[in-house]
Amino acid sequence: MDNKQYIRILKQVVVILKAAIFSLILLLVLVMDMGYNLLKKEFNNDRTVAAERVEAPEIVNGVHVRTGLVEGEGLDLVIQNCTTCHSSKLITQNRMTKTGWQSTIQWMQETQNLWDLGDQEAPIINYLAANYAPQKKGRRARLENIEWYEME
Ligand code: HEC
Repeated sequence: MDNKQYIRILKQVVVILKAAIFSLILLLVLVMDMGYNLLKKEFNNDRTVAAERVEAPEIVNGVHVRTGLVEGEGLDLVIQNCTTCHSSKLITQNRMTKTGWQSTIQWMQETQNLWDLGDQEAPIINYLAANYAPQKKGRRARLENIEWYEME
């Protein structure tokens, strides 16, 4: 093998090597891009889930999630005026008549610095009396129209 032949083979080897390295780099870039896209998709999924949580209506099964208050007319007013000083549990755990709620509010105004509710007082009391009224308790209703059967 003379020098010329040797150099030609060497050149061919270099060309093949260059092609191999180029392919490898290309492959690497492709794989990295794929990984990046996968990551991006994952990230966007997380963001969508988070966004759904934020935008989700705060009422679930008729209950305002953050406060536990029952959905109803006047709920917003009650959230605004009645959950800043104490937990809404004080409301949800209580049952009162309209007068009862009225005097509780009056008591808070006289002794606990509750502000004058103005014309919001009526809808607030209506909400409370409608949704947190005393539960009718006592004996169950009489059974009626029963078909008794003969004992043997
Ligand atoms: C300015 C503060 C403040 C605001 C606003 C406020 N409360 Fe109160 N409330 C209090 C305090 C203080 C107590 C006594 C808490 C305790 O006993 O731990 C209380 C107690 C209560 C109780 C329990 C009463 C009892 O007899 O034990 C209820 C029910 C209640 N609040 C309902 C409401 C409602 C309904 C509203 C909205 C109209 C409201 N609160 C707004 C300060 C406030």
